[in-house]
Amino acid sequence: MFKVLVSDPISDLGISLLVEASDISIDKKTGLSEDELVAIIGEYDALLVRSQTRVTERIMTAGKSLKVIGRAGVGVDNIDLDAATKRGIVVINAPDGNTITTCEHTFAMMMALARHIPQAYAKTIGGEWDRKSFVGVELRNKTLGVLGMGRIGSEVAARAKAFGMKVLGYDPFLTEERADKLGVTLATVDEVVRGADFITVHTPLTPETRHMIGKAQFEVIKPGVRIVNCARGGIIDEQALIEAIDAGRVAGAAFDVFEEEPPAADHPFLKHPKVIVTPPSWRFYGRGARKRRDRCFRAAAAYFEERAVQKRRQHAPLYPATCLRSSSRTSRSPASSEASPRKSPMGLSRRSMSLMQANWPTSTRSH
Ligand SMILES: NC(=O)c1ccc[n+]([C@@H]2O[C@H](COP(=O)([O-])OP(=O)(O)OC[C@H]3O[C@@H](n4cnc5c(N)ncnc54)[C@H](O)[C@@H]3O)[C@@H](O)[C@H]2O)c1
Repeated sequence: MFKVLVSDPISDLGISLLVEASDISIDKKTGLSEDELVAIIGEYDALLVRSQTRVTERIMTAGKSLKVIGRAGVGVDNIDLDAATKRGIVVINAPDGNTITTCEHTFAMMMALARHIPQAYAKTIGGEWDRKSFVGVELRNKTLGVLGMGRIGSEVAARAKAFGMKVLGYDPFLTEERADKLGVTLATVDEVVRGADFITVHTPLTPETRHMIGKAQFEVIKPGVRIVNCARGGIIDEQALIEAIDAGRVAGAAFDVFEEEPPAADHPFLKHPKVIVTPPSWRFYGRGARKRRDRCFRAAAAYFEERAVQKRRQHAPLYPATCLRSSSRTSRSPASSEASPRKSPMGLSRRSMSLMQANWPTSTRSH
């Protein structure tokens, strides 16, 4: 019997995928502190989280039986990947689950900024017919700077091109060839800061990207720029941004992520007339996106299913978790070629498993 702990609020569909898999028992205990998790994690084989639980090295050290951490969503910055890799714990996520949702939300934020939509709406429903205060700007012929040209950044760039914008892209892994294909001009952070009318960030939050746009950048930034952050709170220095807006250097900002979430009631963004805020865009998931995100549960279920089949057929030793990372390696495993069915009891073919496992971001060792 494999024991799974679900420590964040997670969709019933996702959980039902696990329940269907054999030999799994699931406990749902949300809102636990690190100490509380450390106290109980020892009895679990898997931990399933969204973004609230910070899966620290301390938790993994206490999780003596921990084999899998499932992240229902994209970012894995709440999981200490180095610690997981050291311990051979497989980390599964669903990276493309909300790419389009987040891209479209970013674009909606950019347009709301350009047209002052939330401010005009508030005034209009308040009974004022103010046709003068909300003169907007057009996106056409403006320059958009995209910091982080991965899945979401590339989708945003494609939409910006369709709106007649010029796109400057910065990403250490963006090749000239790929940039050409996307119709994006490769640029440095400094060129983006000095040249863009709109800037949007789509990087993970790392020591390199924390305050990537901070005091120094705001001093040289193109006057009148508008800034969007729908990636991770902390990539843009919030305090420096407010100062730059108040100094008239930045025309406005739209954020759905914050250095502290949820932002405190007296956070300057919440009252500022030039700042638009929403909760993170993954809150606005459609059904399809939720299904894609639930791949993480399917992969976790398939993982346990495979191990259960192995165990039942008493092929010792269990083949290593690393085999699950590619179907070719799996088929070379003597145990798997004989013992594994073409389809698992929950209907997952080997091919669909390896597709899901292509999303796994860490390397693993055997258990
Ligand atoms: N607000 C939300 O609701 C929401 C939803 C989904 C994703 N996100 C976040 O958006 C971000 C982007 O997601 P994605 O799916 O496009 O990820 P991705 O991994 O496809 O792209 C991230 C890109 O950032 C680049 N990058 C890394 N370090 C960089 C640096 N120092 N400078 C510039 N670029 C750097 C990487 O090379 C990569 O191309 C992630 O942080 C993710 O967690 C937020």
